[in-house]
Amino acid sequence: MTKFTVNNQPVAYQIDPDTPLLWALRDASNLTGTKYGCGTGDCGACMVDIDGRAVMSCQISIKGVEGSFVTTIEGLSRDRSHPVQQALVAEGAIMCGFCTPGIVMAAAVLLKANPKPSDADIDSAISNLCRCGTYPRVRRAIHRAGRVMLGLERIAAAPPPGISAEDAARTVPALEGGD
Ligand code: FES
Ligand code: FES
Repeated sequence: MTKFTVNNQPVAYQIDPDTPLLWALRDASNLTGTKYGCGTGDCGACMVDIDGRAVMSCQISIKGVEGSFVTTIEGLSRDRSHPVQQALVAEGAIMCGFCTPGIVMAAAVLLKANPKPSDADIDSAISNLCRCGTYPRVRRAIHRAGRVMLGLERIAAAPPPGISAEDAARTVPALEGGD
């Protein structure tokens, strides 16, 4: 039995202690916000917060985190309201969504320790790969999130995902009539 804390909940995994944390989170705990990208410690899609450090969860076994406090994207905020999430949306820095949770986690860890990072701080803390090349936007968003965390700026809440029932029921003019 391997015991630690995930998103403030005590967990006890009865699986091979050598299981990578990523698979314990995804398969045993159904916390699928943490993504599997490369499995080799290169992409950062699997990033989680372990005791205040950003760690690639594909690279550490559950026995390696015994007694630790693990936070995943699901535990960071339940409603996408974390300043990093809001700033990434506001800066148009969210693309495929596969890399985004890892970027959010790495940025949240960075800003918790240093809400006023330099570009160099960001570049060295955010090693996540993103093939759509949003790095400049991600950097802008991290600076902005830091300002929000310091109370220097506010970001209007991003709209919730999906489409409202009213919008779905609304008639699309281009599809009306037509003979
Ligand atoms: S899946 Fe872990 S670093 Fe890519
Ligand atoms: S956000 Fe996933 S490849 Fe760029």
